[in-house]
Amino acid sequence: MTINTKNNVAAMDVPFVREMADITYHMWNLGWDERNGGNISYILDESEVCKYMDTQNVIRTIPLSFPVNELAGMYFIVTGSGKYFKNVISDPESNIGVIRVSTSGESVEVLWGLSNNAVPTSELASHFMSHIERLKVDKDHRIVMHTHSTNTLAMTFIHDLDERLFTRTLWEMCTECIVVFPDGVSVIPWMVPGSSEIGRETAKKMKSHRVVIWPQHGIFGTGTTMDEAFGLIETVEKAAQIYMLVAHHEIKQRITDQQLIELAKAFGVTPVAGILREK
Ligand code: 13P
Ligand code: ZN
Repeated sequence: MTINTKNNVAAMDVPFVREMADITYHMWNLGWDERNGGNISYILDESEVCKYMDTQNVIRTIPLSFPVNELAGMYFIVTGSGKYFKNVISDPESNIGVIRVSTSGESVEVLWGLSNNAVPTSELASHFMSHIERLKVDKDHRIVMHTHSTNTLAMTFIHDLDERLFTRTLWEMCTECIVVFPDGVSVIPWMVPGSSEIGRETAKKMKSHRVVIWPQHGIFGTGTTMDEAFGLIETVEKAAQIYMLVAHHEIKQRITDQQLIELAKAFGVTPVAGILREK
């Protein structure tokens, strides 16, 4: 398949399109993204977009109900609303798109993809507001990834939703967890998805966390690269899977707080305060 690019490059030869197609297919294969479940947004450098797309040619403008002046002029590749992760790889142009936030921050301009009048994910408010907060604490931040990772979602039915208790349990499930997310995970109350309200609550948590769990729904993970954001979610999900496997069994031994403290020291990470008890 070819796209309208300066050099008529095939869509799948555009590096950031390829990255989106590969990861969405992989996530669907994991069973996390049933139907149209999940969405991804990825900040792109203007110079990278310019290599493949005509940034002067705005195909469509879509108004936003939540102005994002902080992101004015920035470029993103995003998944489309109602689009299936499994289909991105065979038809990227219909299922994902490259957009630019207008100079006013009140709309987005479609530059490529989202064909047949498709629109960006319904969770764009949560994505954009999360990007704004993560960029404030990490200038290299690029990715926001939302998925319905099965065991994380299951765990929100049977575990206390206090984020400190939730983090502590996840850290206890696999030795490497505290090294991968020493900042812990955050949890918001159940809310109607797709709204600016859930976007604001998610973004508040993003000031201090890279992971936000939506009870009975899924997870938001962020990172500087696709691998980093995915790896973070994958590690939380693995810990949640172990939890779901052992939850109804007699626990004969566990990783102690002291061992978690030793782990953090050995790997040079600082666990978020108030979770571990030093003996
Ligand atoms: P979209 O298809 O609009 O991205 O919605 C999927 C989803 O997971 C909503 O939370
Ligand atoms: Zn969702």
